[in-house]
Amino acid sequence: MRLILMMIFLYTFSNAFDNAEKLVDSKQKSDMTYKELMQIMGRSSSMIHQGILMQNRQMVKDGANAIAHHKAPNHKPWLIMETFQYQAFKDTLVEFDNRLHQIADAIIKVVDEEDWTKTQKAFSELTLTCISCHISWKSEAHPINPKQINSSNPTQHPHKHPNSDEMYKPPLKMLRDLPRRDIP
Ligand code: HEC
Repeated sequence: MRLILMMIFLYTFSNAFDNAEKLVDSKQKSDMTYKELMQIMGRSSSMIHQGILMQNRQMVKDGANAIAHHKAPNHKPWLIMETFQYQAFKDTLVEFDNRLHQIADAIIKVVDEEDWTKTQKAFSELTLTCISCHISWKSEAHPINPKQINSSNPTQHPHKHPNSDEMYKPPLKMLRDLPRRDIP
C-alpha cells in the first residue's frame, strides 16, 4: 500500500515538472494527428509567403497567428518517436514552441511597418526554425494511424515502435482502383 502511494506521489511529482506535458495541456485539443498539424503549419507558412509577395498584411498576420496559436494533436506528440527519444523530443518541443512564438510575434509587428524586406527576413528566420527541427527529427517520426488513437485516453497508443503491420498505409484496394492514366 505504501509503495502504491509512493508511486502515485512520484508520478504526480514528475509530471508537475514535465514542461512538455504542461505545454501540450495548455493548448486547445483538436482532432488531428501531429502530421496533420504539421500540414497546417506548412499551409500557414505558405500563407505568410504569399502575403509578402502580394503585400497583403492581413494575410501575413493570419498565417503567423495560425502558427503561434496552433492546437494540440489528439495524441501526445512524442508518441511518434521511439521511447528512448521521448525526453529529447519533449525538450525540443518546448524550446521550439517558444521560438516559433517569438518569431511569429516579430513578423506580426514588423509587417505593420510595411517594410517588406524586413518581413521577408523575419519569415526566413521562421523557416530556418522549422527546418532545424526537421533536420533532427523529421525522418525519425513514425506517423500514427489516426484510427489507433483512443480519444478518451490519448496516451493509450502502444509505447513501442509500430511494426510494419501497425504503420499507417493507405488501403491497397484504394490504390488499385485508381484510374491508370499512364497506360493508354
Ligand atoms: C519540434 C519540431 C518541429 C518543428 C518546430 C516544426 N516541425 Fe514540421 N515536422 C516535424 C516532424 C517530426 C515531422 C514529421 C511528422 C510525421 O511524419 O509524422 C514534421 C513534418 C512537417 C511537414 C510534412 C507533413 C507531411 O504531411 O509529411 C511539414 C509541411 C512541416 N512539418 C511544416 C513545418 C513548418 C512550416 C514549421 C514551422 C512553422 C514546422 N514544421 C516546425 C517536427 C517539427
